[in-house]
Formats: sequence, structure tokens, C-alpha cells
Amino acid sequence: MSNALPLGRSFKIDSQSSVSEFSSSGSFRNIQSLADWRTYLPNYNLSFINPEIKCVRPERLWIVTHPISPEHLHQALQWRYAVKKFDSHKKIPDHTWKVLEESLVLTPSSFGLQPWRFYVVTDMTVKSQFPAISWGQTQVRDASHVVVLTAKSELTTEDVERYIHSISTTRQVPLESLAGLKNVIINSLQNPPAGMNVREWNIRQVYIALGNLMTAAATLGIDTCPMEGIIPAKYDEILDCRKDGYETVVVCTLGYRAEDDKYAAAAKVRYPLEQLIFHVEQ
Ligand SMILES: Cc1cc2nc3c(=O)[nH]c(=O)nc-3n(C[C@H](O)[C@H](O)[C@H](O)COP(=O)(O)O)c2cc1C
Repeated sequence: MSNALPLGRSFKIDSQSSVSEFSSSGSFRNIQSLADWRTYLPNYNLSFINPEIKCVRPERLWIVTHPISPEHLHQALQWRYAVKKFDSHKKIPDHTWKVLEESLVLTPSSFGLQPWRFYVVTDMTVKSQFPAISWGQTQVRDASHVVVLTAKSELTTEDVERYIHSISTTRQVPLESLAGLKNVIINSLQNPPAGMNVREWNIRQVYIALGNLMTAAATLGIDTCPMEGIIPAKYDEILDCRKDGYETVVVCTLGYRAEDDKYAAAAKVRYPLEQLIFHVEQ
């Protein structure tokens, strides 16, 4: 939508009915009159921020924009469950699928190294081979899309150089200015965090992509089942990914739940929030 409010930015609307955007320099830039915005506001999900200011200076209303409302996000997360039975007749539309692929590409990784590849399998002849190497589970055959998330088994200095080049060209900065970063990354490969080896470190990154994909899918009303009940080496054989230095970590099946999947109605089993989340505050 061309008139969309930019996401994650703060605005204030003052008593003069003008809308301003908070800029990083600390000043406000006048944008448009409130009358114009009022036409569009109902289309957006807005949160009020800084309620203290709202109280002390009631003439000012602060808002922050975000893609969906907190209530919608909560609803989507509650709706998601690990699907046991997909409706094999339903396929994810292309334009929706493309965004889900972007959720993989946009996944953050340590240093931004992206030590992964994602294989998207929709071919029925290939999918049909999967239950036999997935503890007999049928989601890998019946889901619309099967994503095999693989990690790079090792990272070399060439991988780091490729990444540094990518930063240089994307952000138009000279390679020399990235020499320090390059050394820090190479040192980290020699001494990965928490005593891990690089392979384990890479596998951890892949799970971030899995989470990102599942949350993105739920937000779009697409069902998923994350699956570790697989024989990774057999997936590697079918995908022939080892030759390029990648190994299967986990699978995510995506599509639409079957109407008779009884797990859809099962209550979520989660420890109470108070036992999981601890606030450190004044
Ligand atoms: C890494 C991972 C691997 C999983 N592997 C399987 C699997 O192979 N088959 C399956 O049916 N569910 C699998 N699950 C689903 C979990 O059993 C499920 O997420 C958990 O019981 C919580 O239920 P919910 O996702 O329905 O809320 C896996 C989940 C995760 C996060």
C-alpha cells in the first residue's frame, strides 16, 4: 500500500493536528496533517507508546507502527501446532510461498555468516521417498512444501572472505575498512563461542531459521510441523548436499492441516509463564 505508515517508527500527533516523525537526530520532521492520516489510520496496527507522556501532556499522542497487532500475533502463535496430518490436496500459493522463503533468507545469524542452505521440495516423487527415512511420518509426503534445513559442516577463511565481499558490495564500503571485522570472525572460527566446534555453531544458527519460518508461516495462516524424526544422512543422499559441504539438520513441513487431524484441537502443554519468564526490574 503506497500510503502505508513505515513500520517500527515513532510518530506523534499534536494538538495542532500535525503528524511528525521522530528522527534519529532527535528532532521531529513534520509529515502531513492529521486530517490526511485519519483517512489511513484505520488500516494500520498502531500501539501507543510512552504512556507517561500521554498522561502528562495529553495533547500529544505517540504511536508506533507495526505489521500486525499484538493480539493477532498472539492468536497466530496459539493457532500454530505441530501438524501430524496435512491435507495433501492443498498447495501454498506462490506469492505466499515467496514470502516464506524470504523469512529464511532474512533470518539473522551470528556475525551474519548465513552458514546454511534450505532445500525446498515439492516434487511428489521425491517427497514420497521421505516417510521411509522419517520414522514413517507422513507429513513429509503430504505437506505442500518440505523444507530441508542444512548447515555448513565447516567454515573456512574463504567463506569469511566471501561474506566480507558481500558486505563491501552491498553497503558500498571499501574492503580495507572491513579488515578488522574479518579478523574477528576468523578468530571466532578458531575459538567458537561456548567451547563449541564450528559445525555445532552452524547447526544452532539453522534452528533460528526454523523458528523464523514457523512463526512467519503461522502469521500467514500456514501450518507447519518441525521434524527431527528423520535420518539426516539419508536426506543428504537424496539432496546430494554433502558434496557442497552441507548436511541436513532438521526438516520443516508446511501446508494446510487435514480437517481430521485431531492434534489441532489438543490443548497446548506449556509450563506456566511465571515458571519460565523472570523479570529483572526495579
Ligand atoms: C526441533 C523439533 C523437532 C520436532 N520433531 C518432530 C517430529 O519429528 N515429528 C512430529 O510430529 N513433531 C515434531 N516436533 C513437534 C513437537 O513435538 C511439538 O512442537 C511440541 O510437542 C509442542 O507442541 P506444539 O508445537 O503442537 O505446540 C518437533 C519440534 C521441534 C521444535
